[in-house]
Amino acid sequence: IAPIVRDKALLREMVTPWKRAGEVVGVVPTMGALHDGHLSLVAAAKAVCDRVIVTIFVNPKQFNNPEDLANYPRTEEADARKLERFDVDAIWVPDGDQMYPECFGTTVSVTGLTNCLCGTSRPGHFEGVATVVAKLFLQTQADKAFFGEKDYQQLQVVTRMAADLDIPVEVIGCPTIREEDGLAMSSRNLLLSDRARVYAPVLNEVMEGMADALRGGAAMSEVLPDALARLETAGFTGVDYLELRAADGLALLERSDVPSRLFAAAWLAGVRLIDNIAV
Ligand code: PAJ
Repeated sequence: IAPIVRDKALLREMVTPWKRAGEVVGVVPTMGALHDGHLSLVAAAKAVCDRVIVTIFVNPKQFNNPEDLANYPRTEEADARKLERFDVDAIWVPDGDQMYPECFGTTVSVTGLTNCLCGTSRPGHFEGVATVVAKLFLQTQADKAFFGEKDYQQLQVVTRMAADLDIPVEVIGCPTIREEDGLAMSSRNLLLSDRARVYAPVLNEVMEGMADALRGGAAMSEVLPDALARLETAGFTGVDYLELRAADGLALLERSDVPSRLFAAAWLAGVRLIDNIAV
């Protein structure tokens, strides 16, 4: 059973001999409520690292809405149990004041990649993410870090941040794990009512339909009205964005004439769902 570490000094004591011995240390940062998407990252880390640290911290700085933070699922015991079969080396669960003591005064802010998608619909979100992930990289001294393509913009932002700050970590992106009906796994899916859960996969269905048309040469302006109508019919009450963007750099596109991805964030029964797929 992996030790749950709650103290920064103890974590460092644990990792330092690994680093000294030249072992490859991997980190999988999470906010807990672990599902098979998270566990796929743990498996990817185990496959190529000598030591694996899973971090669980519901980071208050990346929530732009206090209610969302309060409602975020917290299931630490079940999470520790799910990690048992992976034989990870440590579960890093910092207390809030370990992460952000009262005197805390630094923000890591990545420009360019953050002025669109979740960067605009969730103000301050990526500052919170970049700040906590920079800290997690430095705390764990990880050589490799594993992130899901489920949060594609986050993956890009974290990669840029590590490169810009010369943090010696290799950021590795892993594919999105889905439920059988196509819904991307997410801790937030736990917040869906039974009824909303039935309609949630429509988001991915609509996106796959759009992607097919875009691959065939269609323009966004041709496929968007029908997609929005289908989402509305399924009960989605708002669409924060539904956009085609360059896979590298996230420039907005009308047609898929460079390697691109379709990005969506939409509200269903008070829950914000996001997804993105390669076109
Ligand atoms: P969280 O939402 O818990 O996600 C942790 C990691 O799991 C992220 O890299 C995310 O992209 C990945 N993930 C989530 N759902 C996935 C799925 N269905 N398939 C594959 N990977 C998936 O993302 C965060 O936490 C936080 O922002 C964090 C990076 C931990 C910083 O606080």
